Amino acid sequence: MAVESANLEPKGIQGLGKAIKRKEDPRFIVGKGNYLDDINLPGMLHMALVHSPYAHAKILNIDTSEALKIPGVKAVITSKELAGAGLAWIPTLAGDKQMVLADGKVLYQYQEVAAVFAESRQAAADGAAAVQVEYEPLPVVVDPFKATAPDAPVLREDIKGNMTGAHGPRRHDNHIWTWDVGSKDETEKALAQSEVRIKQHMVYPRSHPAPLEPCGCIGDMNKATGRLTVYMTSQAPHAIRTVLSLVTGIPENNIRVISPDIGGGFGNKVPVYPGYVCAIVGSIVLGAPVKWVETRTENLTTTGFARDFHMDIEIGATKEGKVTAMKVYTLADHGAFDAAADPSKYPAGLFSICTGSYDFQKAYAQVEAVYTNKAPGGVAYRCSFRVTEASYLIERSMDVLAHELKMDPAELRLKNFIQPSQFPYPSALGWTYDSGDYEKTLKVALERIGYAELRKEQAEKRARGELMGIGISTFTEIVGAGPSKDFDILGIKMFDGAEIRVHPSGSAIVRAGTRHQGQGHETTWAQIVSEELGLDVDKIIVEEGDTDTAPYGLGTYASRSTPTAGGAMALGARRIREKAKKIAAHLLEVGENDVEWVDKKFVVKGVPGKSVTMNEVAFAAYTNLPPGMEPGLETTYYYDPPNLTFPHGAYICVVDIDKGTGEVKVRRFVAIDDCGTIINPMIVEGQVHGGLTEGFAMAFMQEIAFDEQGNNLSSNFTDYLLPTALETPKWETGHTVTPSPHHPIGAKGVGESPTVGSPAAFVNAVVDALAHLGVRHIDMPITREKVWKVLRQAGVDS
Ligand code: CDP
Repeated sequence: MAVESANLEPKGIQGLGKAIKRKEDPRFIVGKGNYLDDINLPGMLHMALVHSPYAHAKILNIDTSEALKIPGVKAVITSKELAGAGLAWIPTLAGDKQMVLADGKVLYQYQEVAAVFAESRQAAADGAAAVQVEYEPLPVVVDPFKATAPDAPVLREDIKGNMTGAHGPRRHDNHIWTWDVGSKDETEKALAQSEVRIKQHMVYPRSHPAPLEPCGCIGDMNKATGRLTVYMTSQAPHAIRTVLSLVTGIPENNIRVISPDIGGGFGNKVPVYPGYVCAIVGSIVLGAPVKWVETRTENLTTTGFARDFHMDIEIGATKEGKVTAMKVYTLADHGAFDAAADPSKYPAGLFSICTGSYDFQKAYAQVEAVYTNKAPGGVAYRCSFRVTEASYLIERSMDVLAHELKMDPAELRLKNFIQPSQFPYPSALGWTYDSGDYEKTLKVALERIGYAELRKEQAEKRARGELMGIGISTFTEIVGAGPSKDFDILGIKMFDGAEIRVHPSGSAIVRAGTRHQGQGHETTWAQIVSEELGLDVDKIIVEEGDTDTAPYGLGTYASRSTPTAGGAMALGARRIREKAKKIAAHLLEVGENDVEWVDKKFVVKGVPGKSVTMNEVAFAAYTNLPPGMEPGLETTYYYDPPNLTFPHGAYICVVDIDKGTGEVKVRRFVAIDDCGTIINPMIVEGQVHGGLTEGFAMAFMQEIAFDEQGNNLSSNFTDYLLPTALETPKWETGHTVTPSPHHPIGAKGVGESPTVGSPAAFVNAVVDALAHLGVRHIDMPITREKVWKVLRQAGVDS
């Protein structure tokens, strides 16, 4: 019988656009999170690693006898033992291979040389300190520009003379690959014909994601059942399970990967690290669970670095400032192994988004990767695979061009934006941008910051000899990897899955192949399902991170979760709604075609008072079904997105510079983001605050630096600085909304936009403050010392 809806409307439907508090936060706030190091299993052993003090050296001997005498130490393994298990080397995600423990030589400082297993963490550390390793130092290559010199020492002797790499021919033993895109000839021709040309070299320095919780894992091989359970700080548990199965030969159904709560990842927790492999081997050999948790120094020196792109750009334009062509050459320093975490088809990631928000008719980009004596990586640090580097390059270069043309940088951008009518926009480097309204977003930002008044103030201050700068960045992102026709990692397609199971009483459990590390999926996935099914958001629990229960998916990084799993959530919920409609028709005693979904309930067409809620339908799915219908209300949906999403933003930064000390103060920073439909504005704002803070750190504080011997000079938080509340500027945020036309709810990713878009705004502001002194570019990090030197060189008195 039909039920009147009035009293039965769920109270807690909180769908899209609601700034509800994060459902996951109470457990974190009261200290009830369950992080890797909170997990302690009966009989568990601990592992510590021995690291190389040299950046390049032969290993003459490893003596473990003293370590084995330390009370509590159970075993020590080296590459020799791993070789016995076929695990001395493992494949990287980039088609290269890497040593697990040093095999004959070390290739970077802090490289893992041996693993010590003991009854306590302290005993393991004492054991590691007691392992005696005899090294013979070799010549070191630190500068990527010197890596392919004819007389450069060969770093990778394992592939010496093999001139065919995973991504094409190699031209030197230290060369990894060359990748290019676009039309070289046409671009060079257009450049030659351009009235104005600028050239600029710029470096995006090596950085590190440095999550507050370092990496770690527990390997737990149950010899009775033959099942391996691995607890791991992994952003991509399913991919890890598949890789572990391929590498160890253990059938995938006998491996369970559990990613517990994760304290930040930012791309650092995507790759497979030697420590993981050693802990698992230790557990298999010793028959006990083995825990390994990195130290901060291990995290900063051995796990995946980011950036390290050395870029040369040339842009052509008309005298009026209309861009004509762009040519880019980049040298990428990949360290000792190519362990970048990029989709297989794109060894330089999505760097070819470097034409940005501008209508370049001709473009060509070439990237070359080389080996050096540094830790491997090239991970997508809060970035969709090299998009940060691309965005910085074009946004910095547009300012260089504006300077050359003596044109206001906002005016230059407005003159060159891709127009709304041009979408879907095919870029010269091969992407099809889904949607955008760049002019609108920039105008909102200009208005909000009071651009015209600021320029006036700047002119007055300049006349008085004071230094003030305004920096703009109007970036376009490319996120949501990705459509299976182009995107895979080690052959695994990059779709993502959602499982939705509605219980009889109208509550639900939702599972996804993604794995959040602070992004708030437990809230936003529940909001999407609440919106689509009309269920109370508080009665939807979200689970991620257990490969035994979650549907397959490639994980959370590169702002891909909303474009992929977010789509799966919406479409899965809609599939459930189709079945629910049949049940509703049965309850309402009308034909299915007479029922419609209005205001989050099923209503008989033309009879608004006759309706049933999803709660009632859910109960009926287990108690009162139409004859012959399969009971239950659940589905698993795999979503293969038709395209990537292209969020954008307009950021404006105002800085004041102290002439005497070189100190740069960020006075204001306005960030207007456009990520399409917003699921939760409070979460988006939080994402933007965090990302801007990371961009600020890159611009002013951070670099993983090396001396000539390959010593890592940034191995702890006193040398590699994290911004605290004290240094961090106040962020002024806002948004415009240009939905993605192909995403089921019109949403684009947002997590990485602020990290991608902000560094150029900071640097542009500093250079703008100094431009009248002849300064055209300063590489990050823009430290006080660097600015002080620039000022003194420019003859500015303190
Ligand atoms: O892959 P990741 O979760 O790092 O990035 P994302 O998809 O950009 O999402 C970051 C957080 O912002 C998630 O909780 C999203 O659901 C949320 N978000 C949102 O509320 N609205 C959007 N349009 C995009 C993301």
